[in-house]
Amino acid sequence: TPISPPDLAKCSRGTNLNTGEPLDINCCPPIAKYTDYKLPPVTNMRFRPAAHLASKEYIAKYEKAVQLMKELPDDDPRSFTQQAHVHCAYCNLTYEQKGDPELKLQIHNSWHFYPWHRWYLYFYERILGKLIDDPTFGLPFWNWDNPPGMVMPDMFAKKDSPLYDPLRNLDHLPPALADLNYAAKPSDNSKVIQNNLTEMYTEMVRGVSKLEDFYGAKYVVGSTPDPGPGTIERGSHSSLHVWVGQATKSGEDMGNFYSAGQEPLFFSHHINIDRLWTIWRKLRGSKPKDFNESDWLDSSYVFYDENARLVRVKVSDSLDQDKLGYSFQEVDIPWLKNRP
Ligand code: C2O
Repeated sequence: TPISPPDLAKCSRGTNLNTGEPLDINCCPPIAKYTDYKLPPVTNMRFRPAAHLASKEYIAKYEKAVQLMKELPDDDPRSFTQQAHVHCAYCNLTYEQKGDPELKLQIHNSWHFYPWHRWYLYFYERILGKLIDDPTFGLPFWNWDNPPGMVMPDMFAKKDSPLYDPLRNLDHLPPALADLNYAAKPSDNSKVIQNNLTEMYTEMVRGVSKLEDFYGAKYVVGSTPDPGPGTIERGSHSSLHVWVGQATKSGEDMGNFYSAGQEPLFFSHHINIDRLWTIWRKLRGSKPKDFNESDWLDSSYVFYDENARLVRVKVSDSLDQDKLGYSFQEVDIPWLKNRP
């Protein structure tokens, strides 16, 4: 049976998964009844630029939007605090699994990784767009799979910006090279770029034969958390979480699930993963791109939309990017030529 939305009224204090201790924040969302989400007709495509190429005007607009989001009252489900808590609630074992209340929900390290984050970003982006009254607003992607993007994008590194987060590893501000194998071993700086490209080729092409290899393992009602991540989730995705967060056990903000959403750079990290998902589906050609089981396609989650309504979304509605109404700036994909 596919997973379905948790009962928000039964949300409880979760667990800090880095330390195993109970969380000291409450990340449960406001309680409401959901309705089923219908994809609105696409009238304006949203454009997602590469963060390192974004114009001054774009950056000013994005900063303004995040500033306004941070100024919303904390109990507004669209506020920056509540939006960060969405990640915590769905990851840090706060929700009972509908249908098997002995188990807790955790969408990572499983086949929910891509669709769940896609929906999370989708609503986050629409909330920001609404705050600045711009229906074409798209979030920037951190283009870390391409050498010019292999540093923290400058817009996130300016201390006085709403995109800045002091809870980071301050040794990794620009010009430090983002290391996609970061957790593995101390790397030789002269090889980071080449190793990153090789890592991308492995995660996107060489290491993927079955769908599970890319997406992660099946997770349905009755599954225990963390059945197994796909190549990107395990590799570059996790490495950069750890690389951005503080070098402590608890790793705030980015290096810990409960706090990752407090880091504005988190969203650009995941927008790039969203983009890589789209690229991967294109690279598949005539091979299957998606699981065709109802256990995946009919899985559903809840989010607050830009009008603060709680809505239920399905995996099957997340697969067609054109219907979701956004596109990515085209940039080089150098790892495609980096077959080891
Ligand atoms: Cu939901 Cu990158 O973690």
